[in-house]
Amino acid sequence: MITEAAPPAQKKKGIDWSALRADFPILDQQVHGQPLIYFDNAATTQKPRAVLESLRHYYERDNANVHRGIHELSNRATAAFEAARTRAAAFINARSADEIVFTRGTTEGINLVATAWGSKNIKAGDKILLTEMEHHSNIVPWQLLAERTGAKLVFFPITGDVGLLDLNRLDEWLTKEVKLFAMTHISNSLGTINPVAELCARARQLGITTLIDAAQSAGHRPLDVQELGCDFLVFSGHKMCGPTGIGVLYGRQEVLESMPPYQGGGEMILSVAFEKSTWKHAPHRFEAGTPDISGAIGLHAAMDYLDKIGRTNIAQHDQELGAYAYAKLARLSGIRLFGPHIGRAGLVSFLLKDVHAHDVVTVADQRGVALRGGHHCNQPLMHKLGVESTARASFYFYNTPDEIDRFVEVLGEIQKFFGVK
Ligand SMILES: Cc1ncc(COP(=O)(O)O)c(C=O)c1O
Repeated sequence: MITEAAPPAQKKKGIDWSALRADFPILDQQVHGQPLIYFDNAATTQKPRAVLESLRHYYERDNANVHRGIHELSNRATAAFEAARTRAAAFINARSADEIVFTRGTTEGINLVATAWGSKNIKAGDKILLTEMEHHSNIVPWQLLAERTGAKLVFFPITGDVGLLDLNRLDEWLTKEVKLFAMTHISNSLGTINPVAELCARARQLGITTLIDAAQSAGHRPLDVQELGCDFLVFSGHKMCGPTGIGVLYGRQEVLESMPPYQGGGEMILSVAFEKSTWKHAPHRFEAGTPDISGAIGLHAAMDYLDKIGRTNIAQHDQELGAYAYAKLARLSGIRLFGPHIGRAGLVSFLLKDVHAHDVVTVADQRGVALRGGHHCNQPLMHKLGVESTARASFYFYNTPDEIDRFVEVLGEIQKFFGVK
């Protein structure tokens, strides 16, 4: 039974959520003659001025290659790049900056682990445990590894449309053949928040290596890798107010140090001879070639920006927006909702009866509302749910209950437009 939620307060604990919108120049515009309502934050978030300014400052004042030069600009660029690494370590409470590898994003982080860790630790007959709600990024790299090694993928099932993991059944899946358990923290299609600390603890008891896909959680709630007890955790800067092209792979130091390189090239070597090369220690061993220096600097600014608001506050606000939207949608006729009824993240996935998800998104766009429709890179999950696609509205702290009211009104207009109301 879903009850109507009151709109979340827009001023709470000294935070004026609506006022934060002024930090995001892109939000202040009209699309198709209507005020933009940006509800595609699970795909990528918008960037505050502080991040844009940090990029501009870097390129106007400090731009140089890192770790190579001894001139002033190179020293400044190197210091800023390494400061971003230290900041990322603090952001997730890693023990050391050496546990932070900069990547292009979540996808590259998982590919790095599947290739470098996988080639050393996975053999024929081993099992890799995933859940049925994984993003393609947390499936395909493991399929490639399984093809190379003869390992097998197994999928921990979800409980139908509400999309929860049934922990009572976990022992059936955590068997002695399982060598790695890779799981999403927050589902980008369902809004499910998985109990990842408990999942990692249960895996650890059996000596199983764990990886958390934090793409949808890193910018939305506090993360503490020591408390979570994972071996690896990956996330993308662009989903948390940072630039595209930069992400983080956290790896427990002993595990990272035991892994062979991922890619070869400059920056990652100690010495190169025609016959043979030697590698630097982690994390530099995993960062071949010129890295995304400005991306790391922009990510640093994004982490500072988020922590000024407070990630606990953001998590609470997200959940309030998610609950408010879900309760309002549940009152529409002819709607199928996906994901948990309560305790959901700040997104809603749904289908309107007899209206294709792409049509919902196209008509919503004409009214200024940016949604996403499709399989959300969750084709196996869609298959399990017996659908091809869903429409999705995903929120961030700069979204407001008024925008949700307008979005629900637009869905009513769409139902009328297609004659299904
Ligand atoms: C849960 C999840 N994992 C992985 C990814 C992939 O992230 P990226 O494309 O930034 O590598 C996404 C992106 O939507 C995601 O939502």
